[in-house]
Order: sequence, then C-alpha cells, then structure tokens
Amino acid sequence: MGTLGEIDVEPAKLISESPDETEQMAAKFATLCRAGDVIGLQGTLGAGKTCFVKGMARGLGVKDVDEVTSPTFVLLKQHKGKKLTLHHFDAYRLEDARGMEEIGCDEIFHSRGVSVVEWANHVSSCLPPEHFLWTIRMAGGDRREFLLTACGKGPLERLKGIFDALVAWEE
Ligand SMILES: Nc1ncnc2c1ncn2[C@@H]1O[C@H](COP(=O)(O)OP(=O)(O)OP(=O)(O)O)[C@@H](O)[C@H]1O
Ligand SMILES: [Mg+2]
Repeated sequence: MGTLGEIDVEPAKLISESPDETEQMAAKFATLCRAGDVIGLQGTLGAGKTCFVKGMARGLGVKDVDEVTSPTFVLLKQHKGKKLTLHHFDAYRLEDARGMEEIGCDEIFHSRGVSVVEWANHVSSCLPPEHFLWTIRMAGGDRREFLLTACGKGPLERLKGIFDALVAWEE
C-alpha cells in the first residue's frame, strides 16, 4: 500500500474511543491540510464521518462548528475557516459521480480550500488523482478505527509526516 518509487508508507491504524477524540484527531489532521487538498471519507451510517468533518472545521478555524452537519440533501456546504474554506460534500444519495460533476466539484476541488467528501466510495471516479482517503470502521461501542491512505505523489510524500503528527491516536 502506498508504494510509489522510493515512497513506501505502511497504513497506520488510528483509534478513537469517543466523538471528542475523533474531533481532536481530525482537528490535528486539518492543521496539516493545504489549499486544494481533497479528502475522501468512507464508512457506514453513523461511523463518524460528520463528526470527523466537525473536527476538521475546528482545526481550520471555522467559527460556528455546530453549523457542520451532513449535507445529505444539499450535497455541499461551505464553511469559511481562518485561512482556508472547508468544502463539505455528502454523496450518500448519489449512485455515481454525475451529481458531483453537475455541481462543479472539479472547480471546487481546485479552489483555495480543503474539500472533504462523505461517502467518497459512491463517487470515487470524480476524485482527483491526488487525494487522501480515510476509512472508518465501527469497532464496538464508541470505539472507531481510522485508516488513512493516500493516492498520488504529493499526498503519499506527506503521509509519513501526517502519521507522525497523529501518533497519539495510534493503536
Ligand atoms: N469514537 C467516535 N467517533 C465518532 N462518533 C462517535 C464515536 N463514538 C460514538 N460516536 C457517535 O456516532 C455517531 C456518528 O455520527 P456521524 O453523523 O458523525 O456519522 P456519519 O458517519 O456522518 O453518518 P452518516 O452516514 O449518517 O452521515 C454520533 O452519534 C456520535 O456521537
Ligand atoms: Mg454524515
């Protein structure tokens, strides 16, 4: 996994035992995000995707984090952060990438902000070649397992540094 030339990064398994912990981990991750980053989230209903996005909003300095809710019906909500805008997509109701393309996801992905896509597995073909992907698994009670992988040279090169920054949540 994550092999590209000399870059070879083992995926790390990160653990959260509560919604608060998930938010803290996501906030830390967000501080390492850059303009134009695209982050996919996958995991079943109630896995904690929106909770993770809330944490990212916190990390990006969004003022009203409570405004961050699943944009299941509107597909996209945008929140102004301190430096970067958070573009929050929810592809739950989409069967393929067309709905994302119709709202101009390409332009948004390349804009000055960080894009996060809940249910990224529903619309994987619209994700740009370079992106991060978080897989969330429910592991009994409030325990959640988070696996982070990356696609493309840029994200792969940053993966090790990100894992180092998230070591507090390593299993
Ligand atoms: N460790 C945890 N991390 C995140 N959420 C947790 C955790 N433990 C319990 N929860 C609970 O699980 C639920 C996660 O809801 P959330 O809306 O974030 O999930 P989701 O994956 O976005 O669901 P949906 O697919 O419906 O959009 C919340 O009720 C939250 O309180
Ligand atoms: Mg959600």
